[in-house]
Amino acid sequence: MSKSAPRSSAQIRQDFLDFFASKGHTVVPSSPLVPGNDPTLLFTNAGMVQFKDVFLGAEKRSYTRAVSSQRCVRAGGKHNDLDQVGYTARHHTFFEMLGNFSFGDYFKKDAIAYAWELLTGVWQLPKEKLLVTIYHTDDEAFDIWHKDIGLPPERIIRIGDNKGAPYASDNFWQMADTGPCGPCTEIFYDHGEHIAGGPPGSPDEDGDRYIEIWNNVFMQFDRQPDGTLLPLPAPCVDTGMGLERIAAVLQHVHSNYEIDLFEHLIRRAAELTHTADLGNKSLRVIADHIRACAFLIADGVLPSNEGRGYVLRRIIRRAVRHLWKLGALKADGLFWRMLAPLAEKMGEAYPELNAKRALIEQALKAEEAAFASTLDAGMQKLDGMLAEAGNTVSGEQLFLLHDTFGCPPDLILDILRERGLEPVADAMPQYEALMDQQRERARAAGKFGGSVGLPAELVASLHPTEFKGYETLELDGCKVVALLKDNQPVPSLAAGEHGVVVLDRTPFYAESGGQAGDAGLLCSGAVRFAVTDTQKLSAVFHGHAGRLETGSIALGDKLSARVDGARRQATVLNHSATHLLHAALRKVLGEHVSQKGSLVTAERTRFDFSHFQAVSAEQLQTIEDLVNAEIRRNAEAEVHHMGMQEALDFGAMALFGEKYGERVRVLRMGEFSTELCGGTHVHRTGDIGVFKILSEAGIAAGVRRIEATTGASAVAAFKHSEATLQQAAELVGARGGDVLDKLSQLLERQKKLERELEAFKAKAASGQSSDLAAKAAALGPFKLVKARVAGVDGKGLRELVDNLKTQLPDSVIVLASGQDGKVSLVAGVQGAAQATFKAGEVLSHIAVQIGGKGGGRPDFAQGGGEDGPALDAALAGLDAWLAARLT
Ligand code: ALA
Repeated sequence: MSKSAPRSSAQIRQDFLDFFASKGHTVVPSSPLVPGNDPTLLFTNAGMVQFKDVFLGAEKRSYTRAVSSQRCVRAGGKHNDLDQVGYTARHHTFFEMLGNFSFGDYFKKDAIAYAWELLTGVWQLPKEKLLVTIYHTDDEAFDIWHKDIGLPPERIIRIGDNKGAPYASDNFWQMADTGPCGPCTEIFYDHGEHIAGGPPGSPDEDGDRYIEIWNNVFMQFDRQPDGTLLPLPAPCVDTGMGLERIAAVLQHVHSNYEIDLFEHLIRRAAELTHTADLGNKSLRVIADHIRACAFLIADGVLPSNEGRGYVLRRIIRRAVRHLWKLGALKADGLFWRMLAPLAEKMGEAYPELNAKRALIEQALKAEEAAFASTLDAGMQKLDGMLAEAGNTVSGEQLFLLHDTFGCPPDLILDILRERGLEPVADAMPQYEALMDQQRERARAAGKFGGSVGLPAELVASLHPTEFKGYETLELDGCKVVALLKDNQPVPSLAAGEHGVVVLDRTPFYAESGGQAGDAGLLCSGAVRFAVTDTQKLSAVFHGHAGRLETGSIALGDKLSARVDGARRQATVLNHSATHLLHAALRKVLGEHVSQKGSLVTAERTRFDFSHFQAVSAEQLQTIEDLVNAEIRRNAEAEVHHMGMQEALDFGAMALFGEKYGERVRVLRMGEFSTELCGGTHVHRTGDIGVFKILSEAGIAAGVRRIEATTGASAVAAFKHSEATLQQAAELVGARGGDVLDKLSQLLERQKKLERELEAFKAKAASGQSSDLAAKAAALGPFKLVKARVAGVDGKGLRELVDNLKTQLPDSVIVLASGQDGKVSLVAGVQGAAQATFKAGEVLSHIAVQIGGKGGGRPDFAQGGGEDGPALDAALAGLDAWLAARLT
């Protein structure tokens, strides 16, 4: 490779895949950014994520060597680089990780040899520019680097537990707080003396001179929630090389932002914002963030206030703030305009960018609009706070800026850093505490942690449960292979105890893909275990949860498993109808509709999907009609098993957040719906009987929810509507079909009566005001009206005062109207009387005597208090009190 012909990022990606393919590795496509069925992880943050269960031994693949280029996000969760992005040469929220993997196949020796061959052989990097780190006790890795590869000892640096706990080290990698982990060796590239920074392990290692380009992890352990390390079934290899970093090396530039991929984005961002200086850090932030945001939305995440959606929201807002900083916000948004240049560079390698273009655009526009409207005010508020508090902010202020102006705290900290300032010491904990207090929802991110699982030794000793429930609902001779009580393995269960039974095979469906788990009975002889729910344990075991009503169960016993057939059948109808609903939604609302979640039970289906407006009544009707038409078409529900790629080519919809194996199950119902699905379904669509939508509502920004039901429940829902209509007809005295006519007549009549009543009230009021005016007493040169009036509310009293004013131009008016022991008071002062009296004072004078209060303008005031003799006394004494003020 010559210096004059640097390789493009696309070529580098291909080189990597080709090199490892030539060494017997299977090329595996990138998995989505939302890890399937993995609650321990917010985002896919490394190439190994899609292979987690393979490392753990819970999943087998047809290959033992794999290579991939994986899209990753490190923002939020264990690996979080958001704060650094834009300020260093090499941190990104989104990046591509090139990785090779061995699942119990080769180990350290080959992994290191492959890495060296690719770097120095294929790419011809000068050997003297490379140095490595190893975990301090890993003598085996030291020997391989020194003896086999020939690196001098001073370029093999041992790194200990430099993060303050055993196995907490830069050279001990783990994907999350639990899961596969092991020591690693990292390969560094020396960008040269002209750049500041020291080698790894030295005090100035954070400089940009020595850059880690490739991490080779020797996966050996499964970290448990309590911190213990259990050995994996077999030692494995997991490597990761940031495409952007290696591209910088191979393209002879120092910063990742100067590589071909970024250069294009930065140039377009500069044009959009009319920024002349291409080195402006805000341009880097914008270029970085559009990648993370576009891919996250394409993979099904939408901005929200919790979990993944909240991380996305923070990234978008950070980008918008930098656009604002460049003085470049537009009424219809700007950030989304970065999509076109992104698709130009990455659309070929990642077709979903173009396929989901409309959705990404809408989501970005909506979020930018929501934030831009408060950003200016928020920034002004921040400036005010800084001026007041001596250039720092407290946790309370961070909370206020977030809560009122939508400025997330990391955005504020970003601004402080730009200005060389810091928040007060306990600002973040204080902010967090306020968030906790204010919103339960803010804690939702905490739900990513821990999952339902069996102990690792047990997992290793068992075969995954064989699921027989597609074919049958009853199965005899199922062997008890594990028992849990209070989530701990036990050898037996006694009558009356609650627990979980794991069988070697079962017809019980375990909750997954949104379909609720089966209920039913496990029995034999005197044993009766009532199953109330079935859940997956450690991904591959069906756990039957319930109560042992009679008898006892011990490991090794044989039981008959009987699924509650009626409940299963009702669930099946709802599940198949959900697929038809999904297809109908896409037909009626558009291709941007994708599933955001679902829950299918015997009673109903609850389906959440991405869409930006309410679905109109007319659209809902069309959707319901389409589904019912498909039901009447009575197409066969065909199940096919095929490779993932084949399934996608077959037109199957793959769902957000689901994990699919190599071989997938595809459900096809006529021409209408084809989806990947492991659930249980009808034989023909006609089995569903009838489909009825029960409700439609928004549940988060850009996410709608439809609830619907089928079969007997749908018929019951129709019957219920009919019965309600019948009762309504009886109530209004309508016969047959004329209930609507009858109702419109009634409404018409009601309107007429209301109009008459209004007129009558107005007449009564003016009559009353004439009476009152006639009874007005003299108050020096003015008139005084003071009276109790009956059955008039606050508004009516005010109208009375207005009426009286025209009749008594220079006067003081005090009216009271009591009801249920309370009294409303008004006071008015007109014309020349205003020189002497203030309505507010007159009113207060009365109010304080009746245990009430009130106030208002000089010409009009209102208030209230207790009704009773005190009021009469107050009114009686009013003349004298007023007269005393006349002099
Ligand atoms: N999984 C390892 C990493 O992300 C390779 O660094």
